[in-house]
Amino acid sequence: MDLGPKLKRATEDSLHKAKMAWKGGDADSASSHFEAASKAMFKYAEYATSRAQEYSRKKKAIEYRDFAKRLREVGSENAGKRLTPPSTDPDEPTQRENAPEDDQTISAAVSNMVHTSGITWSDIGGLDETKRDIKYALGLSLAKPPEGVKITTFRNILFYGPPGTGKTLLAAATSNSLKVTTEGQALFFNVKVSGILSKYFGESSKIISELYGAARDNSPSVVFLDEFESLTTDRDSGEQSGAERRILSTILAELDGLAEKGRGDIFVLTIAATNRPWDIDAAVMSRFEKQILIPLPDEVSRRAILDIHLARRGFHVECELEELVRVTGGYSGREIERLCKEATGEMIEELNADLPDVIDKGLAGTKAYQVKVRPLNLRDFERAADHIKPQTSPADMQRYIDWGKEQD
Ligand SMILES: Nc1ncnc2c1ncn2[C@@H]1O[C@H](COP(=O)(O)OP(=O)(O)OP(=O)(O)O)[C@@H](O)[C@H]1O
Ligand SMILES: [Mg+2]
Repeated sequence: MDLGPKLKRATEDSLHKAKMAWKGGDADSASSHFEAASKAMFKYAEYATSRAQEYSRKKKAIEYRDFAKRLREVGSENAGKRLTPPSTDPDEPTQRENAPEDDQTISAAVSNMVHTSGITWSDIGGLDETKRDIKYALGLSLAKPPEGVKITTFRNILFYGPPGTGKTLLAAATSNSLKVTTEGQALFFNVKVSGILSKYFGESSKIISELYGAARDNSPSVVFLDEFESLTTDRDSGEQSGAERRILSTILAELDGLAEKGRGDIFVLTIAATNRPWDIDAAVMSRFEKQILIPLPDEVSRRAILDIHLARRGFHVECELEELVRVTGGYSGREIERLCKEATGEMIEELNADLPDVIDKGLAGTKAYQVKVRPLNLRDFERAADHIKPQTSPADMQRYIDWGKEQD
């Protein structure tokens, strides 16, 4: 059954209602109709008969969605004065009917993904074995092999595990350590796979090729593919779109390093990260020579993370560190960081409650104001822990462990 015409009608219907609500000055209702139109339009785009058409429809879907969002932000009173609604004819071409074929747009997109990072290994608490593994791989790839000996090293690493456990930090530190070893040359391409798919849809596979091209030109470098599972999210809910199929095969080719074969001088390390490894396609998964579980921090790691977020920021703690290690059982690194921020923030607010009044007295007085701090105690952390609860349950954690066992 061709759902295309039905989806087109659904889109038109929502757009019509949106237009009516807009004319009637009801910004809230217009906003939700534009939202509905956007959703229908995204689906309608899947039935496009050409890439240009798919692109044009998705672009409109995004326009509707953005407009719905702006309507909500601006509110009813101001909407009429400040906003112009998008055209409500679903098949009218957007200003740029064609996908942005020009290289400029694509290389601009790629240069937006280039990062350098200040994160170093010592900013990451615990995970000592993982750090060592990565450094070893980097070392082996960059060092001189004996004459005539070809050493194969791994070039694709997958980090999987619960949110907030240091996956992005590890990727950043990796790229940074390349920079240190090679005089400021290493680039870090930070790619949110979901972002590429939603922002560049039809063009996303081109962006990936361009990205790897740039990574090779700037070797040694690291391509970090974050939220990697979003590449294959739609597998259960039906067919993948053409754009997703294309990006998948492009990524497979890049993971295989086809373009680098026989070029011992080029080193591009791909690091992918995911919270949902079980969603990743088996063909893709088999390309990762190393699959590393980044778990919730154990006691030793929690002590190290607490140290990074407290002592190294100049905060003193009155209670035994062991008490805090106990309080943070089951917390991720990110949750520990939040807990420390909350505890220190509350303490500072309590001691400096007069700061708003000082502001009233002028800039000079404020600049002379001495912010007061005191050592933190167990109570401070327990109070903070009332607000900040760990989100990953033991069962969630077990799922990662079980999945890892299945891969062996
Ligand atoms: N091992 C750690 N040592 C120090 N800080 C950590 C650690 N793990 C997490 N954090 C803190 O939590 C923040 C988030 O960590 P990070 O972005 O690396 O998590 P992630 O594993 O990539 O999470 P997600 O899966 O949600 O992307 C970091 O910026 C840092 O402040
Ligand atoms: Mg991350």
